[in-house]
Amino acid sequence: MIFSDLQKLEVNPLLSRRYYIATMGCQMNEYDSDYLGQLLLASGYVNTSDPLGADLIIVNTCAVREKAEQKAFSLLGRLVILKRKNPHLIIGMMGCIAQKDGAGLFKRFPDLDFVMGTREIERIHEILETKETTGERIIATDLDTKPLLSYHHEGYFKGRVKGYISIMQGCNNFCSYCIVPYVRGREFSLPPGKIISEAENLVSQGVKEITLLGQNVNSYYSEQESGVDFPGLLRRVNRIDGLKRIRFTTSHPKDLSEKLIRCFGELEKLCPHIHLPFQSGSDRILKRMNRGYTREKYIGLIQRLREVQENVAVTSDVIVGFPGETIKDFQMTLDLIQKIGFDNLFSFIYSDRMGTAAARMADKLDDEEKSSRLALLQKTQQGITLAKNKLLAGHEVEVLVEGLSKRKTQLTGRTDTNKVVNFVSHSNEPGDLVNVMIEDAFVNSLRGTPNKRI
Ligand code: SAH
Ligand code: SF4
Ligand code: F3S
Repeated sequence: MIFSDLQKLEVNPLLSRRYYIATMGCQMNEYDSDYLGQLLLASGYVNTSDPLGADLIIVNTCAVREKAEQKAFSLLGRLVILKRKNPHLIIGMMGCIAQKDGAGLFKRFPDLDFVMGTREIERIHEILETKETTGERIIATDLDTKPLLSYHHEGYFKGRVKGYISIMQGCNNFCSYCIVPYVRGREFSLPPGKIISEAENLVSQGVKEITLLGQNVNSYYSEQESGVDFPGLLRRVNRIDGLKRIRFTTSHPKDLSEKLIRCFGELEKLCPHIHLPFQSGSDRILKRMNRGYTREKYIGLIQRLREVQENVAVTSDVIVGFPGETIKDFQMTLDLIQKIGFDNLFSFIYSDRMGTAAARMADKLDDEEKSSRLALLQKTQQGITLAKNKLLAGHEVEVLVEGLSKRKTQLTGRTDTNKVVNFVSHSNEPGDLVNVMIEDAFVNSLRGTPNKRI
Protein backbone atom coordinates (compact mmCIF):
# COMPACT_ATOMS: atom_id res chain seq x y z
CA MET A 1 0.00 0.00 0.00
CA ILE A 2 1.20 3.51 -0.72
CA PHE A 3 1.27 6.26 1.92
CA SER A 4 2.35 9.45 0.23
CA ASP A 5 2.49 12.72 2.06
CA LEU A 6 -0.63 14.50 0.87
CA GLN A 7 -0.02 17.74 2.76
CA LYS A 8 3.35 18.33 1.16
CA LEU A 9 2.05 18.13 -2.38
CA GLU A 10 1.30 21.36 -4.14
CA VAL A 11 -1.70 20.01 -6.02
CA ASN A 12 -5.04 20.61 -4.38
CA PRO A 13 -6.27 17.18 -3.27
CA LEU A 14 -9.90 18.31 -3.51
CA LEU A 15 -9.57 19.01 -7.21
CA SER A 16 -7.29 16.14 -8.12
CA ARG A 17 -8.20 12.62 -9.04
CA ARG A 18 -7.25 10.09 -6.41
CA TYR A 19 -5.50 6.79 -6.85
CA TYR A 20 -5.52 3.78 -4.60
CA ILE A 21 -3.08 0.87 -5.03
CA ALA A 22 -3.53 -2.45 -3.23
CA THR A 23 -0.24 -4.34 -3.19
CA MET A 24 0.06 -8.07 -2.66
CA GLY A 25 3.02 -10.44 -3.04
CA CYS A 26 6.72 -9.79 -2.65
CA GLN A 27 8.88 -6.70 -2.15
CA MET A 28 9.30 -6.42 -5.91
CA ASN A 29 5.62 -5.68 -6.16
CA GLU A 30 5.97 -3.08 -3.41
CA TYR A 31 8.76 -1.47 -5.40
CA ASP A 32 6.62 -1.53 -8.56
CA SER A 33 3.66 0.00 -6.71
CA ASP A 34 5.86 2.81 -5.47
CA TYR A 35 7.15 3.39 -8.99
CA LEU A 36 3.61 3.48 -10.34
CA GLY A 37 2.62 5.84 -7.49
CA GLN A 38 5.35 8.27 -8.53
CA LEU A 39 4.25 8.14 -12.18
CA LEU A 40 0.66 8.83 -11.14
CA LEU A 41 1.68 11.80 -8.98
CA ALA A 42 3.49 13.17 -12.02
CA SER A 43 0.26 13.10 -13.98
CA GLY A 44 -1.68 14.98 -11.33
CA TYR A 45 -3.23 12.19 -9.30
CA VAL A 46 -3.01 12.21 -5.50
CA ASN A 47 -2.85 9.16 -3.28
CA THR A 48 -5.68 7.98 -1.07
CA SER A 49 -5.66 5.11 1.41
CA ASP A 50 -9.44 4.77 1.07
CA PRO A 51 -10.66 2.83 -1.99
CA LEU A 52 -14.16 4.27 -1.48
CA GLY A 53 -12.91 7.75 -2.34
CA ALA A 54 -10.70 6.73 -5.27
CA ASP A 55 -11.11 7.58 -8.97
CA LEU A 56 -8.49 5.01 -9.97
CA ILE A 57 -7.93 1.65 -8.23
CA ILE A 58 -5.09 -0.69 -9.13
CA VAL A 59 -4.56 -4.14 -7.65
CA ASN A 60 -0.93 -5.29 -7.83
CA THR A 61 -1.06 -9.08 -7.72
CA CYS A 62 1.03 -12.18 -6.98
CA ALA A 63 0.73 -15.54 -8.73
CA VAL A 64 3.32 -17.55 -6.83
CA ARG A 65 0.82 -19.89 -5.15
CA GLU A 66 -2.85 -20.63 -5.65
CA LYS A 67 -3.73 -19.00 -2.33
CA ALA A 68 -2.10 -15.72 -3.40
CA GLU A 69 -4.18 -15.82 -6.57
CA GLN A 70 -7.42 -16.47 -4.70
CA LYS A 71 -6.68 -13.54 -2.39
CA ALA A 72 -6.19 -11.21 -5.35
CA PHE A 73 -9.34 -12.38 -7.13
CA SER A 74 -11.45 -11.98 -4.03
CA LEU A 75 -10.14 -8.44 -3.42
CA LEU A 76 -10.70 -7.45 -7.04
CA GLY A 77 -14.21 -8.94 -6.86
CA ARG A 78 -15.01 -6.68 -3.90
CA LEU A 79 -13.46 -3.60 -5.53
CA VAL A 80 -15.22 -3.84 -8.91
CA ILE A 81 -18.55 -3.57 -7.06
CA LEU A 82 -17.60 0.06 -6.27
CA LYS A 83 -18.18 0.83 -9.95
CA ARG A 84 -21.92 0.50 -9.40
CA LYS A 85 -21.79 3.57 -7.15
CA ASN A 86 -19.21 5.43 -9.21
CA PRO A 87 -19.39 4.62 -12.94
CA HIS A 88 -16.38 6.88 -13.65
CA LEU A 89 -14.15 4.77 -11.44
CA ILE A 90 -11.28 3.13 -13.36
CA ILE A 91 -10.04 -0.24 -12.13
CA GLY A 92 -6.88 -1.96 -13.32
CA MET A 93 -4.91 -5.06 -12.47
CA MET A 94 -1.12 -5.22 -12.58
CA GLY A 95 1.58 -7.60 -11.38
CA CYS A 96 2.13 -11.30 -11.89
CA ILE A 97 -1.48 -12.47 -12.33
CA ALA A 98 -2.01 -9.66 -14.84
CA GLN A 99 1.01 -10.90 -16.75
CA LYS A 100 -0.04 -14.54 -16.55
CA ASP A 101 -3.74 -14.31 -17.34
CA GLY A 102 -3.80 -11.25 -19.62
CA ALA A 103 -7.02 -10.77 -21.55
CA GLY A 104 -8.59 -13.79 -19.79
CA LEU A 105 -9.11 -11.47 -16.82
CA PHE A 106 -11.67 -9.41 -18.77
CA LYS A 107 -13.87 -12.49 -19.06
CA ARG A 108 -13.68 -13.15 -15.36
CA PHE A 109 -14.09 -9.46 -14.44
CA PRO A 110 -16.07 -7.67 -17.19
CA ASP A 111 -15.80 -4.39 -15.23
CA LEU A 112 -12.02 -4.40 -15.24
CA ASP A 113 -10.65 -1.47 -17.32
CA PHE A 114 -7.05 -2.47 -17.89
CA VAL A 115 -4.52 -5.23 -17.41
CA MET A 116 -0.92 -4.07 -17.10
CA GLY A 117 1.93 -6.62 -17.10
CA THR A 118 5.07 -6.65 -14.99
CA ARG A 119 7.19 -4.76 -17.55
CA GLU A 120 4.62 -2.26 -18.78
CA ILE A 121 4.27 0.07 -15.77
CA GLU A 122 5.82 2.94 -17.71
CA ARG A 123 2.86 2.86 -20.10
CA ILE A 124 0.41 3.95 -17.40
CA HIS A 125 -0.13 7.47 -18.83
CA GLU A 126 -0.86 6.06 -22.28
CA ILE A 127 -3.19 3.41 -20.81
CA LEU A 128 -5.19 5.97 -18.82
CA GLU A 129 -5.33 8.38 -21.74
CA THR A 130 -6.62 5.71 -24.11
CA LYS A 131 -9.17 4.63 -21.52
CA GLU A 132 -10.41 8.18 -21.08
CA THR A 133 -10.54 9.04 -24.77
CA THR A 134 -11.90 5.80 -26.23
CA GLY A 135 -13.49 4.08 -23.23
CA GLU A 136 -11.93 0.83 -24.43
CA ARG A 137 -10.47 -1.83 -22.16
CA ILE A 138 -6.69 -1.96 -22.45
CA ILE A 139 -4.22 -4.78 -22.23
CA ALA A 140 -0.43 -4.26 -22.02
CA THR A 141 1.54 -7.40 -21.30
CA ASP A 142 4.71 -7.28 -23.41
CA LEU A 143 7.50 -9.11 -21.56
CA ASP A 144 10.37 -8.15 -23.89
CA THR A 145 10.65 -4.52 -22.80
CA LYS A 146 13.33 -3.44 -20.37
CA PRO A 147 11.74 -0.82 -18.12
CA LEU A 148 13.90 2.23 -17.36
CA LEU A 149 12.57 2.70 -13.83
CA SER A 150 14.20 6.10 -13.80
CA TYR A 151 11.49 8.55 -12.78
CA HIS A 152 11.68 10.03 -9.25
CA HIS A 153 8.92 12.13 -7.78
CA GLU A 154 10.37 14.73 -5.42
CA GLY A 155 9.68 13.91 -1.76
CA TYR A 156 7.77 10.68 -2.44
CA PHE A 157 9.76 8.66 0.13
CA LYS A 158 9.79 11.34 2.89
CA GLY A 159 8.93 9.77 6.22
CA ARG A 160 10.22 6.31 5.36
CA VAL A 161 13.06 4.65 7.21
CA LYS A 162 13.45 1.68 4.87
CA GLY A 163 13.68 1.71 1.08
CA TYR A 164 13.88 -0.87 -1.71
CA ILE A 165 15.67 -0.78 -5.05
CA SER A 166 15.06 -3.23 -7.84
CA ILE A 167 18.54 -3.96 -9.20
CA MET A 168 17.49 -6.60 -11.68
CA GLN A 169 14.34 -7.91 -13.29
CA GLY A 170 13.21 -11.36 -14.28
CA CYS A 171 14.63 -14.80 -13.58
CA ASN A 172 16.36 -17.41 -15.76
CA ASN A 173 16.48 -20.24 -13.26
CA PHE A 174 13.24 -22.07 -13.99
CA CYS A 175 12.99 -23.96 -10.72
CA SER A 176 10.48 -26.62 -11.67
CA TYR A 177 7.70 -25.44 -9.32
CA CYS A 178 7.99 -21.71 -9.98
CA ILE A 179 5.87 -19.35 -12.08
CA VAL A 180 8.17 -16.33 -11.66
CA PRO A 181 10.31 -16.81 -14.83
CA TYR A 182 7.10 -16.94 -16.87
CA VAL A 183 5.58 -13.79 -15.40
CA ARG A 184 8.69 -11.66 -14.86
CA GLY A 185 10.52 -12.56 -18.07
CA ARG A 186 14.22 -13.00 -18.80
CA GLU A 187 16.77 -11.66 -16.40
CA PHE A 188 18.43 -8.27 -16.90
CA SER A 189 20.44 -6.03 -14.60
CA LEU A 190 19.88 -2.30 -14.20
CA PRO A 191 22.91 0.01 -14.61
CA PRO A 192 24.98 0.60 -11.44
CA GLY A 193 24.87 4.38 -11.96
CA LYS A 194 21.08 4.33 -11.91
CA ILE A 195 21.01 2.17 -8.76
CA ILE A 196 23.46 4.46 -6.94
CA SER A 197 21.53 7.60 -7.84
CA GLU A 198 18.30 5.93 -6.71
CA ALA A 199 19.98 4.99 -3.41
CA GLU A 200 21.26 8.57 -2.97
CA ASN A 201 17.79 9.88 -3.70
CA LEU A 202 16.29 7.62 -1.00
CA VAL A 203 18.95 8.62 1.54
CA SER A 204 18.42 12.33 0.79
CA GLN A 205 14.75 11.82 1.74
CA GLY A 206 15.66 10.26 5.11
CA VAL A 207 15.86 6.55 4.29
CA LYS A 208 18.41 4.79 6.51
CA GLU A 209 18.21 1.20 5.29
CA ILE A 210 18.13 -0.02 1.70
CA THR A 211 17.29 -3.51 0.46
CA LEU A 212 18.55 -4.39 -3.02
CA LEU A 213 15.98 -6.55 -4.77
CA GLY A 214 16.16 -9.27 -7.41
CA GLN A 215 15.05 -12.89 -7.80
CA ASN A 216 18.70 -13.92 -7.78
CA VAL A 217 20.82 -10.89 -6.91
CA ASN A 218 24.03 -12.86 -7.08
CA SER A 219 23.78 -13.11 -10.83
CA TYR A 220 23.69 -9.29 -11.10
CA TYR A 221 26.02 -8.20 -13.86
CA SER A 222 26.05 -4.82 -15.51
CA GLU A 223 26.09 -4.82 -19.29
CA GLN A 224 26.60 -1.03 -19.32
CA GLU A 225 29.66 -0.99 -17.06
CA SER A 226 31.16 -4.40 -17.69
CA GLY A 227 32.90 -5.77 -14.68
CA VAL A 228 30.39 -4.58 -12.09
CA ASP A 229 29.03 -7.70 -10.42
CA PHE A 230 26.92 -7.92 -7.27
CA PRO A 231 29.79 -7.68 -4.76
CA GLY A 232 31.07 -4.70 -6.79
CA LEU A 233 27.67 -3.04 -6.61
CA LEU A 234 27.50 -3.66 -2.84
CA ARG A 235 30.85 -1.93 -2.39
CA ARG A 236 29.55 1.13 -4.22
CA VAL A 237 26.34 1.27 -2.18
CA ASN A 238 28.39 0.83 0.99
CA ARG A 239 30.15 4.14 0.24
CA ILE A 240 26.95 6.24 0.28
CA ASP A 241 27.08 8.83 3.07
CA GLY A 242 24.13 8.84 5.42
CA LEU A 243 23.08 5.28 4.59
CA LYS A 244 23.22 3.10 7.70
CA ARG A 245 22.21 -0.38 6.60
CA ILE A 246 22.24 -2.48 3.44
CA ARG A 247 20.31 -5.71 2.87
CA PHE A 248 19.60 -7.78 -0.22
CA THR A 249 17.16 -10.43 -1.25
CA THR A 250 17.20 -13.06 -2.66
CA SER A 251 20.40 -14.89 -3.49
CA HIS A 252 20.39 -18.42 -4.84
CA PRO A 253 22.62 -21.06 -3.18
CA LYS A 254 23.91 -22.29 -6.54
CA ASP A 255 25.41 -18.84 -7.28
CA LEU A 256 26.46 -17.69 -3.79
CA SER A 257 30.09 -16.85 -4.49
CA GLU A 258 33.02 -16.71 -2.09
CA LYS A 259 33.39 -13.07 -3.19
CA LEU A 260 29.87 -12.27 -1.93
CA ILE A 261 30.38 -14.25 1.29
CA ARG A 262 33.51 -12.17 2.01
CA CYS A 263 31.46 -8.97 1.73
CA PHE A 264 29.83 -9.93 5.04
CA GLY A 265 33.20 -9.57 6.74
CA GLU A 266 34.28 -6.47 4.83
CA LEU A 267 31.39 -4.06 4.30
CA GLU A 268 30.42 -2.33 7.54
CA LYS A 269 26.93 -1.35 6.35
CA LEU A 270 25.98 -4.80 5.07
CA CYS A 271 23.68 -6.32 7.71
CA PRO A 272 24.74 -9.72 9.11
CA HIS A 273 21.66 -11.43 7.71
CA ILE A 274 21.14 -13.54 4.63
CA HIS A 275 17.91 -14.90 3.22
CA LEU A 276 19.01 -18.04 1.39
CA PRO A 277 16.11 -20.29 0.35
CA PHE A 278 16.95 -24.02 0.52
CA GLN A 279 13.50 -25.39 -0.54
CA SER A 280 14.23 -29.01 0.45
CA GLY A 281 16.74 -31.00 2.50
CA SER A 282 16.62 -33.99 0.16
CA ASP A 283 19.01 -34.17 -2.80
CA ARG A 284 16.49 -36.23 -4.74
CA ILE A 285 13.84 -33.50 -4.40
CA LEU A 286 16.34 -30.68 -5.01
CA LYS A 287 17.15 -32.35 -8.31
CA ARG A 288 13.48 -32.62 -9.25
CA MET A 289 13.12 -28.96 -8.31
CA ASN A 290 15.99 -28.08 -10.69
CA ARG A 291 17.74 -26.12 -7.96
CA GLY A 292 21.31 -26.93 -9.00
CA TYR A 293 22.86 -27.63 -5.54
CA THR A 294 22.94 -30.39 -2.94
CA ARG A 295 22.25 -30.29 0.80
CA GLU A 296 26.00 -30.70 1.44
CA LYS A 297 26.75 -27.67 -0.71
CA TYR A 298 24.09 -25.69 1.18
CA ILE A 299 25.49 -26.72 4.57
CA GLY A 300 28.99 -25.78 3.37
CA LEU A 301 27.82 -22.31 2.33
CA ILE A 302 26.30 -21.61 5.73
CA GLN A 303 29.45 -22.84 7.46
CA ARG A 304 31.54 -20.52 5.33
CA LEU A 305 29.20 -17.57 6.01
CA ARG A 306 29.49 -18.24 9.75
CA GLU A 307 33.28 -18.36 9.52
CA VAL A 308 33.31 -14.94 7.87
CA GLN A 309 30.65 -13.40 10.12
CA GLU A 310 29.88 -15.47 13.18
CA ASN A 311 26.73 -13.52 14.08
CA VAL A 312 25.13 -13.88 10.66
CA ALA A 313 21.41 -14.60 10.89
CA VAL A 314 20.15 -17.06 8.31
CA THR A 315 16.56 -17.18 7.11
CA SER A 316 15.18 -19.35 4.35
CA ASP A 317 12.24 -20.59 2.30
CA VAL A 318 11.13 -24.22 2.18
CA ILE A 319 8.46 -26.05 0.23
CA VAL A 320 6.59 -28.95 1.83
CA GLY A 321 4.90 -31.69 -0.18
CA PHE A 322 6.64 -31.27 -3.54
CA PRO A 323 5.46 -34.00 -5.98
CA GLY A 324 7.04 -37.31 -5.03
CA GLU A 325 8.26 -36.12 -1.59
CA THR A 326 8.45 -39.24 0.58
CA ILE A 327 8.48 -39.32 4.37
CA LYS A 328 12.23 -39.93 4.11
CA ASP A 329 12.68 -36.82 1.92
CA PHE A 330 10.63 -34.80 4.38
CA GLN A 331 12.72 -36.08 7.29
CA MET A 332 15.83 -34.93 5.44
CA THR A 333 14.24 -31.46 5.33
CA LEU A 334 13.53 -31.54 9.08
CA ASP A 335 17.06 -32.73 9.66
CA LEU A 336 18.53 -29.88 7.64
CA ILE A 337 16.42 -27.39 9.57
CA GLN A 338 17.87 -28.74 12.85
CA LYS A 339 21.42 -28.84 11.49
CA ILE A 340 21.42 -25.27 10.21
CA GLY A 341 19.40 -23.70 13.01
CA PHE A 342 17.65 -21.03 10.94
CA ASP A 343 16.74 -17.78 12.66
CA ASN A 344 13.45 -17.85 10.78
CA LEU A 345 11.85 -19.85 8.03
CA PHE A 346 9.09 -19.15 5.51
CA SER A 347 7.41 -22.45 4.79
CA PHE A 348 4.95 -23.12 1.99
CA ILE A 349 2.77 -26.01 0.95
CA TYR A 350 3.57 -26.98 -2.64
CA SER A 351 1.03 -25.46 -5.01
CA ASP A 352 0.62 -26.48 -8.66
CA ARG A 353 1.33 -23.61 -11.08
CA MET A 354 0.03 -24.27 -14.53
CA GLY A 355 2.74 -24.36 -17.20
CA THR A 356 5.57 -25.27 -14.81
CA ALA A 357 7.45 -28.59 -15.02
CA ALA A 358 6.39 -29.69 -11.53
CA ALA A 359 2.70 -29.26 -12.36
CA ARG A 360 3.15 -32.01 -14.96
CA MET A 361 4.84 -34.41 -12.52
CA ALA A 362 3.07 -37.47 -11.16
CA ASP A 363 2.99 -38.51 -7.46
CA LYS A 364 1.15 -35.45 -6.15
CA LEU A 365 0.59 -35.55 -2.39
CA ASP A 366 -2.87 -35.09 -0.93
CA ASP A 367 -3.75 -31.90 0.92
CA GLU A 368 -4.07 -33.55 4.31
CA GLU A 369 -0.60 -35.06 4.15
CA LYS A 370 0.92 -31.76 2.99
CA SER A 371 -0.79 -29.85 5.82
CA SER A 372 0.31 -32.26 8.51
CA ARG A 373 3.92 -32.14 7.26
CA LEU A 374 3.78 -28.33 7.25
CA ALA A 375 2.41 -28.24 10.82
CA LEU A 376 5.23 -30.48 12.07
CA LEU A 377 7.86 -28.43 10.24
CA GLN A 378 6.51 -25.15 11.59
CA LYS A 379 6.43 -26.51 15.15
CA THR A 380 10.06 -27.62 14.80
CA GLN A 381 11.11 -24.21 13.48
CA GLN A 382 9.21 -22.29 16.16
CA GLY A 383 11.22 -24.09 18.82
CA ILE A 384 14.46 -23.20 17.03
CA THR A 385 13.47 -19.55 16.48
CA LEU A 386 12.47 -19.15 20.14
CA ALA A 387 15.68 -20.75 21.39
CA LYS A 388 17.75 -18.46 19.12
CA ASN A 389 15.86 -15.37 20.22
CA LYS A 390 16.27 -16.30 23.90
CA LEU A 391 20.04 -16.34 23.46
CA LEU A 392 19.81 -12.57 23.00
CA ALA A 393 18.31 -11.96 26.46
CA GLY A 394 20.80 -10.01 28.56
CA HIS A 395 22.59 -8.72 25.46
CA GLU A 396 22.59 -5.29 23.88
CA VAL A 397 21.48 -4.98 20.27
CA GLU A 398 21.35 -2.04 17.87
CA VAL A 399 17.82 -1.28 16.69
CA LEU A 400 16.79 0.89 13.75
CA VAL A 401 13.51 2.45 14.89
CA GLU A 402 10.70 2.12 12.33
CA GLY A 403 7.69 3.52 14.20
CA LEU A 404 5.08 2.63 16.81
CA SER A 405 4.43 -1.00 17.69
CA LYS A 406 1.11 -2.62 16.78
CA ARG A 407 -0.48 -1.68 20.10
CA LYS A 408 0.96 1.85 19.76
CA THR A 409 2.40 1.75 23.28
CA GLN A 410 6.00 1.08 22.32
CA LEU A 411 8.49 1.82 19.57
CA THR A 412 9.34 -0.95 17.17
CA GLY A 413 12.35 -1.59 14.99
CA ARG A 414 14.73 -4.27 13.85
CA THR A 415 18.18 -5.49 14.74
CA ASP A 416 20.77 -5.74 11.98
CA THR A 417 19.95 -9.47 12.02
CA ASN A 418 16.36 -8.50 11.09
CA LYS A 419 14.69 -9.41 14.39
CA VAL A 420 11.79 -7.26 15.61
CA VAL A 421 12.45 -5.41 18.89
CA ASN A 422 9.83 -3.46 20.86
CA PHE A 423 10.77 -1.01 23.59
CA VAL A 424 9.39 1.98 25.47
CA SER A 425 11.09 5.29 24.79
CA HIS A 426 9.95 8.90 24.85
CA SER A 427 13.13 10.30 23.40
CA ASN A 428 13.49 8.36 20.16
CA GLU A 429 11.86 8.56 16.78
CA PRO A 430 11.74 6.63 13.49
CA GLY A 431 15.15 6.53 11.84
CA ASP A 432 17.12 6.54 15.13
CA LEU A 433 19.64 3.80 15.81
CA VAL A 434 19.17 2.86 19.47
CA ASN A 435 21.10 0.40 21.65
CA VAL A 436 18.56 -1.76 23.46
CA MET A 437 19.17 -4.23 26.28
CA ILE A 438 17.06 -7.32 25.54
CA GLU A 439 15.00 -8.50 28.50
CA ASP A 440 12.50 -10.90 27.00
CA ALA A 441 12.32 -13.00 23.86
CA PHE A 442 9.34 -14.50 22.03
CA VAL A 443 8.95 -16.35 18.71
CA ASN A 444 8.16 -13.25 16.65
CA SER A 445 9.79 -10.45 18.61
CA LEU A 446 12.12 -9.31 21.38
CA ARG A 447 11.48 -6.78 24.15
CA GLY A 448 13.98 -4.56 25.90
CA THR A 449 14.98 -1.22 27.37
CA PRO A 450 17.03 1.45 25.62
CA ASN A 451 20.49 1.86 27.01
CA LYS A 452 20.74 5.23 28.73
CA ARG A 453 24.39 5.70 27.73
CA ILE A 454 23.20 6.56 24.22
N1 SAH B 1 13.59 -15.90 -6.19
C1 SAH B 1 13.37 -16.37 -4.91
C2 SAH B 1 11.98 -16.85 -4.60
C3 SAH B 1 10.79 -16.22 -5.12
S1 SAH B 1 9.28 -17.01 -4.76
C4 SAH B 1 14.28 -17.54 -4.69
O1 SAH B 1 14.75 -18.16 -5.61
O2 SAH B 1 14.46 -17.85 -3.56
C5 SAH B 1 9.29 -17.11 -2.99
C6 SAH B 1 9.15 -18.49 -2.45
O3 SAH B 1 7.89 -19.03 -2.81
C7 SAH B 1 10.13 -19.51 -3.00
O4 SAH B 1 11.37 -19.45 -2.37
C8 SAH B 1 9.44 -20.81 -2.72
O5 SAH B 1 9.74 -21.32 -1.44
C9 SAH B 1 7.96 -20.44 -2.77
N2 SAH B 1 7.29 -20.98 -3.95
C10 SAH B 1 7.51 -20.67 -5.24
N3 SAH B 1 6.70 -21.39 -6.05
C11 SAH B 1 5.95 -22.17 -5.24
C12 SAH B 1 4.94 -23.16 -5.48
N4 SAH B 1 4.56 -23.48 -6.71
N5 SAH B 1 4.38 -23.76 -4.41
C13 SAH B 1 4.78 -23.45 -3.16
N6 SAH B 1 5.72 -22.54 -2.88
C14 SAH B 1 6.32 -21.91 -3.90
FE1 SF4 C 1 11.49 -18.94 -8.87
FE2 SF4 C 1 13.75 -20.30 -8.77
FE3 SF4 C 1 13.68 -17.95 -10.04
FE4 SF4 C 1 13.48 -18.03 -7.40
S1 SF4 C 1 15.26 -18.66 -8.60
S2 SF4 C 1 12.21 -16.85 -8.78
S3 SF4 C 1 12.34 -19.90 -7.02
S4 SF4 C 1 12.60 -19.82 -10.63
FE1 F3S D 1 4.56 -13.13 -6.40
FE2 F3S D 1 5.38 -12.12 -8.66
FE3 F3S D 1 6.71 -11.64 -6.42
S1 F3S D 1 4.56 -14.13 -8.38
S2 F3S D 1 6.38 -13.51 -5.26
S3 F3S D 1 4.66 -10.99 -6.86
S4 F3S D 1 7.57 -11.90 -8.46
